[in-house]
Amino acid sequence: MTTRPVLFHAAASPFVRKVMVLLHETGQVDSVELYAAVHTPIAPDAGVLQDNPAGKIPALRLTDGQTLHDSRVILEYLDQQHAGEPLIPREGSARWRRLTLASLADAVLDAAVLIRYETAMRPPEKHWDKWLDNQQLKIVRTLAYFDGPACIELAERFDIAAIGVACALGYLDFRQPHWDWRSDYPQLAKWFAEISQRPSMQATVPG
Ligand code: BEZ
Repeated sequence: MTTRPVLFHAAASPFVRKVMVLLHETGQVDSVELYAAVHTPIAPDAGVLQDNPAGKIPALRLTDGQTLHDSRVILEYLDQQHAGEPLIPREGSARWRRLTLASLADAVLDAAVLIRYETAMRPPEKHWDKWLDNQQLKIVRTLAYFDGPACIELAERFDIAAIGVACALGYLDFRQPHWDWRSDYPQLAKWFAEISQRPSMQATVPG
């Protein structure tokens, strides 16, 4: 048993990135030990599966042996472990609004990761174009939403919602580098350019 919680980590995972950004933002980055998982849906890492039968990454094994997942649960846990301003509002309408914006960001990530798995892991002759197109449309609709009044909300503070959207846009740059989403969503692009300068974002760029 280690003296620090163990974070089951994969550098390419945008869900892991959300957790790492929160750790940086709240001064907790040295409070966890990283376990570099070598894990894909078709080749799970045996170390990850202990107490985590679905093989979720990120997962956080606490010092008492309990394992937390997924990223939403871990973020909530870690946000309760620091003394600063919470990054997830504890109560009131702000809590539900910021968590809903964060959920929308996760929807972008879910679709983008499914596209990645379909295109990088399945043989080309098995690709299902209509399904891929509809996953991409989900992303397009959501980015259009974030490029509207929701962008002003995101800019209010760098919290759970902003971290989620930032990691989603970072993942699109990483896995869909050919897509110039910035031309279609200029407000969002401006916001992303600004928050990308934060040390937490710079320290966690995938690649
Ligand atoms: C990726 O390589 O794109 C990836 C890795 C882990 C989780 C999700 C995506």
